Amino acid sequence: MRVGVLISGRGSNLASLIEATKVADFPAEIVTVISNKADAGGIAIARNAGIPAEVISHRDYPSREAFDAELDATLRRAGVDLVCNAGFMRILSDGFVDAWRDRQLNIHPSLLPAFKGLHVHERVLEAGCRITGCTVHFVRPAMDEGPIIAQAAVPVIPGDTVDRLADRVLAAEHRLYPMALRLVAEGRTRIVDERVLIDGEDAGAQAPLFVPAGH
Ligand code: GAR
Repeated sequence: MRVGVLISGRGSNLASLIEATKVADFPAEIVTVISNKADAGGIAIARNAGIPAEVISHRDYPSREAFDAELDATLRRAGVDLVCNAGFMRILSDGFVDAWRDRQLNIHPSLLPAFKGLHVHERVLEAGCRITGCTVHFVRPAMDEGPIIAQAAVPVIPGDTVDRLADRVLAAEHRLYPMALRLVAEGRTRIVDERVLIDGEDAGAQAPLFVPAGH
C-alpha cells in the first residue's frame, strides 16, 4: 500500500512510521510526505530517509478548498492509496475528507472521543483523569472523529506535568500508529456501522489496546 503522510511539525510520528516500514514484511511504504509548514522538522526526517517531501503552504491558497485541492492533486500524482495524518494541524474540507473516505487515518493524543482538539494533556490533567492515551482512527469530516482502529492506554501519574505526560503518551503513539497502519494495510480492518472490526481476532479482542511496558 502506498502511503502519503501529512505533517505540520516535529514529525516524530512520521519517524516511527518510517522505521516501521523498513521492516521487510511491512505491508506499506511511504511514498510522499507533505507539510503545510515550511519549518516542519518532519521534512528533514523524510528527506534523510530518502522519501520525497514537499511543502504546500496553506497561506499560498485563497481558500481551504483551494489548498485541499492542491493537497489532493499532489497525493494522487504520487499514487497514494492511503493518507496518514501525523500531527497535521489543519482542518480539512468535507470534500477532501469524503474523497479519501476510509483511506485516511489520523492519530490523536487522547482516548477519543474524550479530549478532541488542542491542549489535550493540559485538559486531561485539569480534569484529574487517572488514565489517558492515544487513538488512531479513520478520518471523518468532524475534527478528531471517526471509526477507531486502535487505542493505547497510558496512566496519569501523580505529579505529572504536561510535558511528562505528553512524552509518555507520545511514546505510546509511536507504537500505536505503526500497529494500526499495519492492520489497515493488511486489509484486516472493516468498517461496519461506523465501527472498526478487525479480521483475525476473536470477538473479545476486537480493539487492540495496550499499556506501554514500564508504566
Ligand atoms: C502528536 O502528539 C499527535 O498525536 C498530535 O500532534 C502531535 C504531533 O507530533 N496530533 C493532534 O493533536 C491531531 N489532533 P509529531 O509531529 O512529533 O508527530
